[in-house]
Amino acid sequence: MAFVNTKKMLEDALKNGYAVPAFNICNLESAQAVAEVAGEKNVPVIISVSEGAGKYAGYDYITAIVKTASKHYKNDIALHLDHGKTFEACKAAIDAGFTSVMFDGSALPYEENVKETKRVVEYAHSQAKYVTVEAELGKIIGTEDMIHSDVESFTDPDEAKDFVNRTGVDSLAISIGTAHGVNKSISTPIIQYGVIDSVHEANPNLPLVAHGSSTVPAKWVDLIKKYGGEIKKSQGISEEDIVKMSKTAICKINMDTDLRLAHTAGVRQDLAENPNHFDQRDYNKAGKKNVKEQIAHAFELVMGK
Ligand code: G3H
Ligand code: 13P
Ligand code: ZN
Repeated sequence: MAFVNTKKMLEDALKNGYAVPAFNICNLESAQAVAEVAGEKNVPVIISVSEGAGKYAGYDYITAIVKTASKHYKNDIALHLDHGKTFEACKAAIDAGFTSVMFDGSALPYEENVKETKRVVEYAHSQAKYVTVEAELGKIIGTEDMIHSDVESFTDPDEAKDFVNRTGVDSLAISIGTAHGVNKSISTPIIQYGVIDSVHEANPNLPLVAHGSSTVPAKWVDLIKKYGGEIKKSQGISEEDIVKMSKTAICKINMDTDLRLAHTAGVRQDLAENPNHFDQRDYNKAGKKNVKEQIAHAFELVMGK
């Protein structure tokens, strides 16, 4: 693989009516799982690292792992900071060698979001190797480690146009009814295709991004519960919506929760069925196998391969 930014992969996706999946990782096993599946399929992929994952593993360690992985295959791989909340977080990832960053100023007042996004864009685009920037407009609900919003507000197309013109971002995360985490809604979330289409009409060359796009497969949730785990409520995006979204101007589809569930299901099953296992390679191998299966399925949904 080549270790690249997201520019060409998202432009190609927009032109050709598919999406590139962005998978969140936090360690060696999860990075390898993504790189191996994408490499074997020979498709572009984005590896995302949240601020929380960066604190857990270290941006520099992750860069070394992903760069190394990129040498094993022929296709393109981008390393992306997910939901950077400050200029400093984005700078730290860029300085550590990330090829792409997201500045998430969605909790800020509009003018403040414009100002801080622009600051990140100026730094990212002035690097010797152009670093791509994703920003966020509108509010996506849900809770993860360092991300929380109770209030949903869909992205306004005219505001998006003004925002993109003033900041120069390369892609934009929009609020369309998806949500972060394992429980997205009381019933299957309703995706706002009208919002996607009108933001696209106002910004025809801009790749759009869907966050909170895990499908929360019942098979992983059931396995986790069967082997002693507790998940109170689980509700994901429907697979039909993932396929449908990927054919719109949505060019990047973010999935984290599904990989966490797949890995945990494997670890729980392995330890429950093999009480003598205490070598972490045994249970992590079981987790990684499920993660690879989940990733392969996601590629089929968003790229048709
Ligand atoms: O969308 C965000 C990711 O799922 C990040 O999760 O902050 O718990 O690593 P995290
Ligand atoms: P999920 O919680 O649906 O996997 O969303 C992940 C995400 O949006 C990462 O930015
Ligand atoms: Zn997200």
